[in-house]
Amino acid sequence: MEIDQQKLRQCFGAFMTGVTIVTTTDSHDKPIGFTANSFTSVSLTPPMLLVCIDNGSENLNAYIKGRGFAVNVLASDQQDLSSRFASPIADRFEGIAWQNSALGFPIFKDVAASFDCTLEQAIAAGDHTIMLGRIDNFSSADKLGLGYHRGQYFTRGDTA
Ligand SMILES: Cc1cc2nc3c(=O)[nH]c(=O)nc-3n(C[C@H](O)[C@H](O)[C@H](O)COP(=O)(O)O)c2cc1C
Repeated sequence: MEIDQQKLRQCFGAFMTGVTIVTTTDSHDKPIGFTANSFTSVSLTPPMLLVCIDNGSENLNAYIKGRGFAVNVLASDQQDLSSRFASPIADRFEGIAWQNSALGFPIFKDVAASFDCTLEQAIAAGDHTIMLGRIDNFSSADKLGLGYHRGQYFTRGDTA
């Protein structure tokens, strides 16, 4: 069957998600990160999650050949951060408050939750690569998350 990519993209967009920023460090120890909504919880025992990264990413090797990565689950007031980390800006971290996780990956201030992962496996999957992470540390705050649906951000609009 011939697949209409635009229609498929729209169809995927019908699925409401949260928004994350996946971070790691490159070979020069520089922090890097990108916005991702392909985050999925995978397993409690052992604790695992996954994120899919586009094979076209300039930093693909830093993620899929590195030690691991952190997943920042964005809070409802962090839409600007999401846009920034999805844009072609030279230094996405400039002027942004963050600190290193125990494993040494960037965690942003005031996120709804974060996961600190070692890379368990990088699985080739079409034009993306599935990054399967083993969760070493995690943290959750009492905050509403940022939502994404059909190309637009949304929030629940009530209190956590
Ligand atoms: C809400 C949202 C979700 C996204 N989800 C993903 C994703 O799951 N995987 C991915 O590779 N890119 C995703 N992107 C696109 C990347 O954030 C964007 O292409 C970014 O520029 C890639 O970073 P890079 O230039 O460092 O490769 C998403 C963008 C937005 C706005």
